[in-house]
Amino acid sequence: MEKLDNILLNAKNEIDNANEKQSLNNVYQKYLGKDGIVTQELKHMKELSQDEKKTFGMEINRIKNEIFMLIKNREKDFERLKIEKQIESTQFVDLTVPSRERRGSLHPITILQEKLIDIFLSMGFTVEDGNEIETEYNNFEAVNIPKNHPARDMQDTFYLENGQVLKTHTSAAQNRIMRKYGAPLKAIFPGRCFRNEELDASHENTFFQIEGMMIDKDVSVANLIYFMKEMLTNVFGKEINVRLRPGFFPFVEPGFELDISCPYCDGKGCKVCKHSGWIELCPCGMIHPNVLKMGGIDPEKYQGFAFGLGFSRLAMMNYDITEIRLLNSGNIKALSQAKIK
Ligand code: PHE
Repeated sequence: MEKLDNILLNAKNEIDNANEKQSLNNVYQKYLGKDGIVTQELKHMKELSQDEKKTFGMEINRIKNEIFMLIKNREKDFERLKIEKQIESTQFVDLTVPSRERRGSLHPITILQEKLIDIFLSMGFTVEDGNEIETEYNNFEAVNIPKNHPARDMQDTFYLENGQVLKTHTSAAQNRIMRKYGAPLKAIFPGRCFRNEELDASHENTFFQIEGMMIDKDVSVANLIYFMKEMLTNVFGKEINVRLRPGFFPFVEPGFELDISCPYCDGKGCKVCKHSGWIELCPCGMIHPNVLKMGGIDPEKYQGFAFGLGFSRLAMMNYDITEIRLLNSGNIKALSQAKIK
């Protein structure tokens, strides 16, 4: 029995000292292999008396099992050590660990977009989606900008190899939405737009617009002014005056630039409105009969207005952001300083 205890003790030591698979395998062979020490001891069984066989048999089986378990456990240690080594050597970063430093928040553009969507939903508009990659037809032809029309120069964009374009304005979805719903129609469609712009503090190649369309019998400029004023009053939390100046866009007739009385100085003149009391905000107009026709709507029966609100600018005004490029920068430190009003 004492011999058996010693065998176990030695085996334990050797298992602990084995530090790679091969030496562990050797220990296995040495004790439990065909000619191993434990196996040899088992062979002595037949020389023993019946009683001795019983106690010795139980003991040697216990030792055999224990050595087997110790070897298996040591094997698992090796696996664990291997993984730990890998982690150490690859500068492992656990992306699932929650940050203790900063709670997340929505991007100013997202906050404003959700606010605008809520406002228009409450006025009975539906919210539609537009594609970022569009056909040239939808982006230009379908809104009355034929090939070689000079208005294409105002919206130079990025052409893909297959001839499609990154949409230059949310108006690119007008045709699809008219075809989908027909008249009457009241919809807004927010989206990301792209232009080949010279970048500066107020020009970006990627920016956000919300397009709005209302088509029905007897829709007039008065409806357009009403909805724009409602929207602005909600955004700024006070009544905002608007004025319309003529503006040219091939897809509206008449077309306008809608200005708002400066909400920061109430029209008295300040830095934001460059001391004019007015801020240019939103191009708009009555939808051109050609555009309605191409959308499958009879311009003899229906009229409508459309607007394209550039809300990257509105977000800058609303959150005191002076540099448009910041909006796409992913610069959390700067963006989190945007003052939410
Ligand atoms: N799509 C125009 C632009 O991005 C804006 C616009 C929309 C003008 C709807 C009139 C009506 O420049």
